[in-house]
Amino acid sequence: MKSMRGAILRDFDAKLEIVDLELEAPRAGEVKIDVVASGLCRSDLSCINGTLKSPMPVVLGHEAAGIVSELGEGVSNLAVGDAVVVALSPACGDCLFCNEGAPNRCLKMIPGMIGSTMLDGSTRLSLGGEQVYQLCGVASFAEQAVVCAMSCVKVGDTVPLEQACLLGCGVLTGAGAAFNTPEIGPDVSVAVIGCGGVGLAAIQGARIEGAAQIIAVDVDPAKLELAKVLGATQTVDGGGDVRKAIRKATGLGVHVCIEAIGHVSTIETAWEVLRPGGLAVVIGMPRAGEKIPIRAGGLFQERRMAGCVYGGADPHRDIPRVLEHVGRGEFQLDRMITEELPLERVQEAIDSLAASHGARHVIVPRS
Ligand SMILES: NC(=O)c1ccc[n+]([C@@H]2O[C@H](COP(=O)([O-])OP(=O)(O)OC[C@H]3O[C@@H](n4cnc5c(N)ncnc54)[C@H](O)[C@@H]3O)[C@@H](O)[C@H]2O)c1
Ligand SMILES: [Zn+2]
Ligand SMILES: [Zn+2]
Repeated sequence: MKSMRGAILRDFDAKLEIVDLELEAPRAGEVKIDVVASGLCRSDLSCINGTLKSPMPVVLGHEAAGIVSELGEGVSNLAVGDAVVVALSPACGDCLFCNEGAPNRCLKMIPGMIGSTMLDGSTRLSLGGEQVYQLCGVASFAEQAVVCAMSCVKVGDTVPLEQACLLGCGVLTGAGAAFNTPEIGPDVSVAVIGCGGVGLAAIQGARIEGAAQIIAVDVDPAKLELAKVLGATQTVDGGGDVRKAIRKATGLGVHVCIEAIGHVSTIETAWEVLRPGGLAVVIGMPRAGEKIPIRAGGLFQERRMAGCVYGGADPHRDIPRVLEHVGRGEFQLDRMITEELPLERVQEAIDSLAASHGARHVIVPRS
């Protein structure tokens, strides 16, 4: 058992503490990585404030990139020294949903998502003999992590890992939502409510798909400015009458509205701004058990609302796809990063995200 530094959360609403954690060697089907970078996603914050209920103590961080340093038994798709992005979902290729072509629903993802463990229900982290949980089976706010080999996507060295890490969650989710929603294409209008890491990626994805009108909605003027740089054709102040502003901009409402915040009120707005036949794609994660009141009249205009997990993406197909767009200068990953911070400043990054400052903070644990 080796020791390394990591940021531990002991209880809901507590501050993260940097401690020396014990990390076991990878077991069969797992690899150890040296974490190079880990983006901070709102879902990490949701674990702190109790919107998502993870067992404690837990190491957060689930948007990671690193270098493979040790292979568990039977791992043949990776080698020591490979640069990888760690995808949220293992995408095992073998379960019911992977076989149905929906690897973002991979049944192997469940222990990581619900129990913050590895696939077998245990974890590789401990502190003074006490078990420590690993958010999404990743736990990348630490110098090293043991993760499922199936979750690792080799990315080479064309994009710095400090940027590529965003593909582990937020960027793949946002861009994937645009790429994998067939309704988004040339001549359509798309609204994106919430222009944080996920929403800005959705805006870039919609631009790449050729959407004619991309309306960015946020309460933060700085995010709206960035949204314009990344592809929004219009912006709307989320603190005002969003429905009226979108009606004015489109006439009948938008073809597709992507919600990337997770508030009941903004999901309701996503429903209200649709044209007849329009589709609301809900990425944002409200508290479990919350109910969304939608006006029934919209059903008789054939409006639809769909949930969206991990952008409907297959990480092994879609991470390389986004990186190709990055390589061609079409997807600006670098513009989405507000600041890179060392592990010691992870709490500062969390406080900034809680105050909605900046697009994406990236923790660089080994700096
Ligand atoms: N479904 C999935 O697979 C998946 C994956 C990743 C993240 N998520 C969820 O997506 C959501 C967004 O994540 P993120 O990391 O981009 O968050 P973020 O905090 O970076 O972005 C949220 C944005 O919403 C804006 N905002 C807040 N209240 C608003 C309002 N009333 N009107 C308009 N704008 C408002 C903020 O200014 C901010 O720019 C979260 O709920 C997260 O948990 C879901
Ligand atoms: Zn996330
Ligand atoms: Zn599967």
